[in-house]
Amino acid sequence: MITLTDSMKVGVPKIDAQHQELVDRLNAVTSMGAKAVSKEETQKTLNMLGDYIVKHFGDEEVLQKQSGYPKYEWHRGQHQIYIGEFQKLKREFDTNGISAKFTLDLNNSIVGWIVRHIKNVDVEFGKYYRSSRSA
Ligand SMILES: [Fe+2]
Repeated sequence: MITLTDSMKVGVPKIDAQHQELVDRLNAVTSMGAKAVSKEETQKTLNMLGDYIVKHFGDEEVLQKQSGYPKYEWHRGQHQIYIGEFQKLKREFDTNGISAKFTLDLNNSIVGWIVRHIKNVDVEFGKYYRSSRSA
C-alpha cells in the first residue's frame, strides 16, 4: 500500500491529481493477492492500471513538450521502459497468475520504480514546469 507523500508532490495540480489516481490503481493491484477474486476480476484491475499508466504518461509528455522541457526525450524513454515492464508483468500474470515472481516484479519493477520516478524525475520536471510558467 503506497501513499502519495509530500516528497512525491510535483507541484503541478494536474500531475499530482493523476499521480493520486495512479497510486489508487496501484494499490488496487497490490491488494489483489490477499483477496480471493476471480482471474477475470484480477485481469480487469490490471488492465485498469495499465490503461491509466499510458494515459498519464501521455498527458505528462504533452506538458513537457508544450513547455519545451530539455529532458523530454529522455523522460519519455523512461516511460517507455516502464510500459515494457508492465507488459512483462501482464504476461507473467497471463501465464502463471499471481505467482511469487508476479508479486516480486510488481513490488520492485512497478511500485518501487514509479515511487522513485515520481520523487526524482517527475519532481524535477515539476520544478522546471513551474519556473517556465512564471518566467
Ligand atoms: Fe514521468
